[in-house]
Amino acid sequence: MTVKHDGGTRTNHSELLSWVDEMAAMCTPDSIYWCDGSAEEYDRLCEELVQAGVYTRLNPELRPNSFLARSHPSDVARVENRTFMCHRNKDDAGPTNNWMDPDEMKTVLTGSFSGCMRGRTMYVIPFSMGPIGSPIAQIGIQITDSAYVVTNQHIMTRVSQKVLDTLGDDGAYVKCLHSVGAPLEPGQQDVPWPCESEIDNKFISHFPDTREIWSYGSGYGGNALLGKKCLALRIASNMAHEEGWLAEHMLILGLKAPSGERTYVAGAFPSACGKTNLAMVLPPEGLKDWSVTTVGDDIAWIKPNADGSLRAINPEYGFFGVAPGTSYQSNPMAMDTLKANCIYTNVALTDEGDVWWEGMDGEPPAHAIDWKGEDWTPDMDHPAAHPNSRFTAPAAQCPTIDDHWEDPEGVPISAFLFGGRLSKTFPLVYEAFDWNHGVFLAASMGSEATAAAIGQAAIRRDPFAMLPFAGYNMGDYWQHWVDMGKKGLKLPRIFRVNWFRKDEHGKFIWPGFGENMRVLEWVADRVSGKVGAVESPFGLVPRYGDINWKGLDFSQQNFATLTEIGRDEGLAEARDLKDYFAQFGDRLPETVEAERRALEARMEDSPEMWRSDAA
Ligand code: GTP
Ligand code: SPV
Ligand code: MN
Repeated sequence: MTVKHDGGTRTNHSELLSWVDEMAAMCTPDSIYWCDGSAEEYDRLCEELVQAGVYTRLNPELRPNSFLARSHPSDVARVENRTFMCHRNKDDAGPTNNWMDPDEMKTVLTGSFSGCMRGRTMYVIPFSMGPIGSPIAQIGIQITDSAYVVTNQHIMTRVSQKVLDTLGDDGAYVKCLHSVGAPLEPGQQDVPWPCESEIDNKFISHFPDTREIWSYGSGYGGNALLGKKCLALRIASNMAHEEGWLAEHMLILGLKAPSGERTYVAGAFPSACGKTNLAMVLPPEGLKDWSVTTVGDDIAWIKPNADGSLRAINPEYGFFGVAPGTSYQSNPMAMDTLKANCIYTNVALTDEGDVWWEGMDGEPPAHAIDWKGEDWTPDMDHPAAHPNSRFTAPAAQCPTIDDHWEDPEGVPISAFLFGGRLSKTFPLVYEAFDWNHGVFLAASMGSEATAAAIGQAAIRRDPFAMLPFAGYNMGDYWQHWVDMGKKGLKLPRIFRVNWFRKDEHGKFIWPGFGENMRVLEWVADRVSGKVGAVESPFGLVPRYGDINWKGLDFSQQNFATLTEIGRDEGLAEARDLKDYFAQFGDRLPETVEAERRALEARMEDSPEMWRSDAA
């Protein structure tokens, strides 16, 4: 077939050119357009999307150069049950991933993709995860039939002709094929958010052996912006496993002490558990002599340096953050990042042409258009913005962006934080006794369902916050972390944190947000050996006096409640983990099970209620 190739980008990479031709022959688009990543291209595509009724241009005086999109109501989040890791061997995907044989999956998907771009343009996006040309960066080429995806990728990744130049005539890249799965018949009117509405026809498939991603049927977030979860976590975790580094669902932040000393921290929290908030945390009253800088809010690639330190880069170029709950109160630096040049998806539109979402500062608007495009007033019993509505914002616009955030060498990591949403049992913060204990703390991490109104919320285990993202057997992934501890590297300290503990009335005990800075100060001071801790059955816990309380009225009694450990609850946790770990069979690292048994033994010897200041 003959399809015209448009766009400014050029390459002589013959294998790439024939892959694009092959995909075009399968998907049968009307035309092929190579993206160059320029501002001109971005502006032109956004204008086309406005003309097509996909984007609403926001009021340029309130939100310059910013756009709103509304998805189809069936396409509002990642689809974990339709996400597949297609290893040759099912056991290499492990019990926590969906699996299908790669050849079988290719056969199924060739059916889906055949003719799927009829009536549409096929965009070819050359992008880099990480600074272009950096030895830690990876190149991807995404094929997509969604201009919405192209404009978002302009913000989330580095899209440029330079990527093709770096690739040269035969460089390696990750093949990322994406279609919304909605071909158009001749003369058929398009809809604002085309997608495959039948959930069982959606596929987010990964082929780790051939470093390929085939995503069909969704235009939303991690389903469609393939550099993010698909490449930077699921495929990259396979690369990291083979090559001896780490690809993690982690924010990266820098702490600057009053002495000028800098400490970099990487933190893993499950989706919608506060990574963006923490990455941009503003020190509160009393801690203003500290500052926090932002390197990344979602993904970290961490590699051992020649000097044995672990160096982290943020492979992304923007933030794809949860909008609801973001306010000057909760996250002022995010609000300042969002002033211009952003894309909003599924938030509400005000009568002034601005965006709005639940939890924003001030009164709700008297009238708005909700995320479904319908009239909304505050007395209605549904939210105006979808709970998983998101902003796509250039990272460089963040006022606290770190001066090394694009350093190809990365920043040295001194501490790892792991935290979920846990309303009871788990203290505000505790430090692992050593590396292997830290791996156990991360492997046993869990989080409660966000919407769990009932007190009996079950813990969803989310080891390392990587449950939906570890691209191979979770047991092998834990072993990989254990092995990283045996290489004589300068190992970061490992901490568990929990901002979400509740009192008997169901209220958060810890004020959180900016006040989390007090925990970060303790972490930094643990790293530099300036502050103490006491041994608890869970790990090393600060005493009341070990935390800087300047500017906050938080009683010793409250702190005791926040850090106490009940024997029965701790024992139940240790025993519950036994069953959880058992599913990994012979892939479960012996050290991880040994750490579990050690916890069980410590809990048996523990007082009925362990308290830090009584220790
Ligand atoms: P993904 O982008 O989905 O990976 O998630 P994320 O971890 O970046 O999530 P995000 O920062 O958007 O999480 C937002 C949610 O966490 C909101 O519900 C916030 O209210 C809540 N949150 C963030 N920090 C705190 C905190 O310190 N305390 C409490 N109680 N809630 C917090
Ligand atoms: C997450 O779900 O962890 C996200 C959002 O960061 S998405 O990119 O849609 O996966
Ligand atoms: Mn995430």
